[in-house]
This record gives sequence, C-alpha cells and structure tokens, in this order.
Amino acid sequence: VVRESLKSGPGLEASDPEWTVRRILDWTTRYLRRGGVEAARFEAETLLAHALSTERLELYLHPDRTLSPKERARFRTLIKRRRAGTPLAYLLGTVEFMNTMLKVDESVLIPRAETEELVEQILKDLGPVHPGLRLLDLGTGSGAIAIALLVEWPEARALAVDISHRALKLARENARLNGVIERIDFVCCHWLSAISGGFDLVVSNPPYVPTEEFAALPKEVRAEPREALDGGPRGLREIERIVREVPSFLREGGRLYLEIGAGQVDDVRALLWETKAFSQVDALCDLAGRARIVRALRTRGR
Ligand SMILES: C[S@@+](CC[C@H](N)C(=O)[O-])C[C@H]1O[C@@H](n2cnc3c(N)ncnc32)[C@H](O)[C@@H]1O
Repeated sequence: VVRESLKSGPGLEASDPEWTVRRILDWTTRYLRRGGVEAARFEAETLLAHALSTERLELYLHPDRTLSPKERARFRTLIKRRRAGTPLAYLLGTVEFMNTMLKVDESVLIPRAETEELVEQILKDLGPVHPGLRLLDLGTGSGAIAIALLVEWPEARALAVDISHRALKLARENARLNGVIERIDFVCCHWLSAISGGFDLVVSNPPYVPTEEFAALPKEVRAEPREALDGGPRGLREIERIVREVPSFLREGGRLYLEIGAGQVDDVRALLWETKAFSQVDALCDLAGRARIVRALRTRGR
C-alpha cells in the first residue's frame, strides 16, 4: 500500500514492500504534483537520479532496481524539501548555463534562460573580440554571465562585482571550475562604488522585481536571495543607480547591456538618454515578444 504520512513525510519507509525505481517514481510524481510541482515526473526522475548518483537514463534501463535504506533516506529528504518549495537547482547543487556548469546554492540567484539570451545576444553583436577586452559584470551572483563570456572569449578579462560575500565566494569557485579563474577579478561592493577604470563592455542582470510584486512570486522564487530580486518601487531603483554611474566606467565605443523586467523598457530607455552619454539605445525582445534586454552604445564624453 502506498501511503503518505504527514509526520514522517513521504512513504518509502524501510518496512514498506519492495521500493523499485518504477514504484518510487510513480509515487513521487503524485506526491510532488499534489504539492504543486508542475514538471512533477521530470523532477522526480531528476532527483532520484541525483540521490542514486546516476543518470536519468539509467532509471529507464533498470526500472526494477531496488533502493537501499540509505538511498531511500537520501531521496526522501530531497523530495520533502522540493515539495516544501526549495528549487530543484538548489537540491541538485549545479545548473547548466550556456557553455558552463555552475554550482548554485541559496546564496545566489539560479541563472535563467532569459539571461542565456542576453549572453547569446552579446556574443552575436560583438563576435570574436579583440585580445584584452575588459568586461564588467555588475551583480555577478553565481558568476554566470562573466564566466560564460570568458569561456567564449579566451583572451578577454573580467571584473565581477556583487554586494554579497557569499555569492562572490561561489562565483570564484565557479570561475575555477570552468577554467577562467586567471582572467577574472572579484570585488565586493555596492555597484560601481569601489572600482575604477574603463571597460569595453558592461553587463548587468540587476534586481528588477518591483517590491510591490515580491509577495506574489512563486515560493520557489522567494526561496532565492531577496537582494538578487527586489528592485525597489516599480523595480527600477537599482537599474537607475547603475545607469547614472556607469557612463564614466565605459570607454567611448563601449557597450552596456542590461536585462530588465517586462514593462520597464520605456523607463530604462529614458534613464539612459537622460545621461546624454549614449548615442544608440535599443531594446531586444524575448521569444514571447517582450522587451527584456536593453543595449546602449557609449559615445560622447560627459
Ligand atoms: C538578478 S541577480 C543576477 C545574478 C547573475 N548575474 C545572473 O544573471 O544569474 C542580481 C545580483 O545583484 C546583486 N546585487 C544586488 N544589489 C547589489 C548592489 N547594490 N551592488 C552590487 N550587487 C548587487 C545580488 O546580490 C545578485 O547577485
């Protein structure tokens, strides 16, 4: 009998009948679905493969494999945390981002597909870059943007800034794991307050969720660091700070790329024009047709 005990969490007790991979997956899919997890089957398989230190394919190849009590215990902990709202990526501890594999934990935002689009756009616009190109990643989090760009551009260098010490520790580890540690420096500070120099490229995916919308975010998203998401009133507070300060850090001809929230494009464009430091400002739409990337070209001095 498959049962679900609130006190001890999901079944899978030692005394239960044979827990094969097949039975566990069916049971867990229902358990996660009842907890509101949309891709319940996929997540059940991914977490089981993780608990068994194997690949998802192996579960299909050996559906009658049974789990040891230790494996069951490990799996039970994972699915209880998942149902309680911990994002899948935190449970797995890693995430693929473009050409990189990044460690993630509760100290960093889980890199998103939208941000991959941002990196792809930059790669498309800049092509193969000149040796020594200097890029600045503001609010680097896990290091996703800077590391992915450095992997593609073997002769570029990056400076990655974040206000969170814990995020920077993880970003440094990710830079090492992805072979770019020699070409990246890290600074813990408020945006541009403790850095100097001119950059060819400044990229940022800043916190842009309006404070007034924060409480309505799904619980998985609220499990991520608030300072990575909450962009103040209308979500524009941090973008405004960056836009006002950034011109003096961009070389003439340098480019700025910002990821922004849906509905913010007109405000962000206006902020950029106000600086009088950019000659071209345009917005690029995501697959759903919403403007989510703003790019600007630094030309005039200030
Ligand atoms: C939306 S997350 C982006 C993380 C990563 N770049 C990505 O795209 O996955 C925003 C990041 O900005 C950082 N941040 C927030 N306020 C900041 C500030 N005042 N100065 C520097 N970094 C800040 C947060 O800690 C967080 O890592």
